[in-house]
Amino acid sequence: MVEETLILIKPDAVAANNIGKILAIYEANGLKIIAMRMLIMNDQLAAKHYKEHIGKPFYEKLVTFMTSGPLVAAVLKGDNAIERVRSIHGATDPTQAEAGTIRKLFATDKTRNAVHASDSATSAKREIHVFFSEAEIF
Ligand code: TYD
Ligand code: MG
Repeated sequence: MVEETLILIKPDAVAANNIGKILAIYEANGLKIIAMRMLIMNDQLAAKHYKEHIGKPFYEKLVTFMTSGPLVAAVLKGDNAIERVRSIHGATDPTQAEAGTIRKLFATDKTRNAVHASDSATSAKREIHVFFSEAEIF
């Protein structure tokens, strides 16, 4: 099934000059970039995007990191994209991530973990529209 999913290249990966390498991995896996923008998250946008995590013990640390510098938001489209992108990313904690995954290659720790991806069709639809209007998706 052809799906769309939201990804973020987080501030750690942008600062480390890994934007191009990460985008190349998606394209090499046959995923199409159908929307993309660079931006700095503020607290309000972070709360909208990460609303399911508000109140969790790691939330403040997560928002401080996510608002610390520019990030890249993009929509990827492809066969089984939602599950496939999460498997290309690897586990949230890079010490648990499999060899060859983006988080194994580029993440520092469980918070500074290089990338975000939607985890279900419902969250993909919601998260895509946190960052992009219909007119910005090609
Ligand atoms: P989560 O949705 O559990 O992970 P994923 O990004 O793999 O979907 O958590 C969202 C983000 O919150 C995660 O990418 C980094 C941060 N986080 C922490 O900083 N500490 C933690 O213990 C967890 C679980 C997440
Ligand atoms: Mg998640």
